[in-house]
Amino acid sequence: TGAFTFDPGFTSTASCESNITYIDGDEGVLLHRGYPIDQLAEKSSFMEVAYLLLNEELPSKAELENFTYTISRHTMLHEQLSTFYRGFRRDAHPMAIMCGVVGALSAFYHDSTDIADPHQRMIASHRLIAKMPTIAAMAYKYSIGQPFLYPRNDLSYTGNFLRMTFGVPAEEYVVDPVIEDAMDKIFILHADHEQNASTSTVRLAGSSGANPFACIAAGIACLWGPAHGGANEAALNMLREIGTPDRIPEYIARAKNKDDPFRLMGFGHRVYKNFDPRAKVLSKAAGEVLDKLGRNDPVLDTARELERIALSDPYFIDKKLYPNVDFYSGVILSAIGFPTTMFTVLFALARTVGWVAQWNEMISDPEQKIGRPRQLYTGPAKRDYVAVGNR
Ligand code: CMC
Repeated sequence: TGAFTFDPGFTSTASCESNITYIDGDEGVLLHRGYPIDQLAEKSSFMEVAYLLLNEELPSKAELENFTYTISRHTMLHEQLSTFYRGFRRDAHPMAIMCGVVGALSAFYHDSTDIADPHQRMIASHRLIAKMPTIAAMAYKYSIGQPFLYPRNDLSYTGNFLRMTFGVPAEEYVVDPVIEDAMDKIFILHADHEQNASTSTVRLAGSSGANPFACIAAGIACLWGPAHGGANEAALNMLREIGTPDRIPEYIARAKNKDDPFRLMGFGHRVYKNFDPRAKVLSKAAGEVLDKLGRNDPVLDTARELERIALSDPYFIDKKLYPNVDFYSGVILSAIGFPTTMFTVLFALARTVGWVAQWNEMISDPEQKIGRPRQLYTGPAKRDYVAVGNR
């Protein structure tokens, strides 16, 4: 390959040094700043994990209070942005709204785009983490024709988001602790995942010196695809389409058929070749949440049976395909009351923390360069221009 290494899909290229997240795909290990994801999901909170990812260490009690307070002071959106929403068709996919509104933040918060100043970078990061729930909840409210609710800073980060999403002005919304806990866990499990496609997109956009709001909008665009964040929506749609466990073999056969583009959504991962530790936490949580909410969703039985059948099939064993984070998250999100179109939005909300942490890490590196891959050219050799009348 001459002077370059040819690595389409970057399966063996490290694009950066990072001390944020460690993954061992063969062992099913995921650590944030050294802490195992299952411990963080069980014992920590999303605000604490956000602090950890941004600031390298778990916060003290006072640091956590201060951070939570700071984030809560940035939750409001510029009032003019609500006008921006009204420009979207009311049946717009909420991810389309997210791409537009988050990109537009660059115009509203231009005062925090001096990326050479670490203090300014932190303000932009806090603003993004704080405003994402407001933006996401407004996208949902817009799609169902209900009024936007302003954030309430006496509630937790996750409680406030649930209220803005499911509350109405006519009555007090009481946050159900079971739902709040499940939502917070899902946010933790999606907070960061080293150099995945959307994070790499954020880094590449940021490497040119673009402002952080524009970079995160780029990340949202990448996350939207069904091979990445869009898989949670696709996975639940698939499970609902399968409907009952007796139809599973038909779908397994389709997934194995080379001539059929169908894939089991929520299955397989570029890095995890043993199991996805996030899927383990979510599989357990899905059962617990449904039990606690007194729901009996047949989709969970379908998911468990699909997992069992796939994991005993040589095709999936040989290709090392296991359920990923998206396989069980949809069951929980649907029990909470979210439509499938909101699933990827929730992923974007949580991943914003990882995106800003990775962006900050990149910008603060004095050796940082613009990301500029090369290519293997396969087009025509040099030839002379022919006037249009002679072609
Ligand atoms: N169902 C059936 N076959 C599959 C699947 C699947 N879900 N995933 C991979 N394969 C097969 C694929 O056909 C290929 O077979 P062969 O070697 O015979 O051509 C082999 O396994 C390797 O697949 P690949 O596409 O080369 O692997 P990749 O590392 O490029 O792709 C992936 C990883 C996650 C995009 C892929 O597994 C996939 O499309 N899964 C379904 C979508 C999904 O659940 N995505 C969420 C990923 S986790 C969360 C996130 O990152 O957002």
